[in-house]
Amino acid sequence: MWRASVLTIFPDIFPGPLGASLSGRALAAGVWALDVADIREFATDKHRSVDDTPAGGGPGMVMKADVLGRAIDAIAADNRPRLLLSPRGLPLTQARVEALAAGPGAVLVCGRFEGVDERVIAARRLEEISLGDYVLSGGELAAMALIDACVRLLPGVMGAPASSAEESFTGGLLEYPHYTRPQLWEGLAIPEVLTSGDHGEIAAWRCAEAERLTKERRPDLWAAFLRRFRGGSRTG
Ligand SMILES: C[S@@+](CC[C@H](N)C(=O)[O-])C[C@H]1O[C@@H](n2cnc3c(N)ncnc32)[C@H](O)[C@@H]1O
Repeated sequence: MWRASVLTIFPDIFPGPLGASLSGRALAAGVWALDVADIREFATDKHRSVDDTPAGGGPGMVMKADVLGRAIDAIAADNRPRLLLSPRGLPLTQARVEALAAGPGAVLVCGRFEGVDERVIAARRLEEISLGDYVLSGGELAAMALIDACVRLLPGVMGAPASSAEESFTGGLLEYPHYTRPQLWEGLAIPEVLTSGDHGEIAAWRCAEAERLTKERRPDLWAAFLRRFRGGSRTG
């Protein structure tokens, strides 16, 4: 079973949104498992301290290597990747999510304060993963986002197997626009081709729209798409 083990100083936050909808139903059905460990349980002083002042001075506090090291060591030794949610990491991509979802699960360490003592990152071989180029107050929301993205790809979690196949990023492009009834809303009609019943025309329209949106909104993805799927031949 795919297993997420989360280390946090705010264990009560979990499962949070992971307990609702697709991921919540899959959790209840035993498709995946979630363990949440309170890092504070591994502190040894009477204040249960998990942080201390930064060596060299400066603002904020740093999560202690000894406490975090013990917390990580208490997680069952298996071959799951150990991830540290961190703005310094490589940004999470759908390709990485797919790889994680295909594996046994993940151990996720949620940082707080100014971050984590560098020695524990190296000694416990934590792979830093970022949710994006902005700073959150803690790793918990990032861990939830990563888990959610993985869980929805697990077999049986999403309704139709095709649901993820055409999604944004999977084929290197953003997804085409969606419409549903009513046919006319505030004077705006659903594009005629989508109600034509011509599946070839619909597929061609969706493909063209996905390309147009990607080109307009994400020139970085479009350039990568051209390199990967078109041998770099199209530049328009
Ligand atoms: C306030 S942040 C620390 C930011 C750090 N001082 C820096 O400038 O890189 C506290 C924690 O939130 C989490 N975090 C913040 N931004 C994140 C992001 N973009 N992706 C993943 N985790 C993030 C990390 O676990 C981090 O240790």
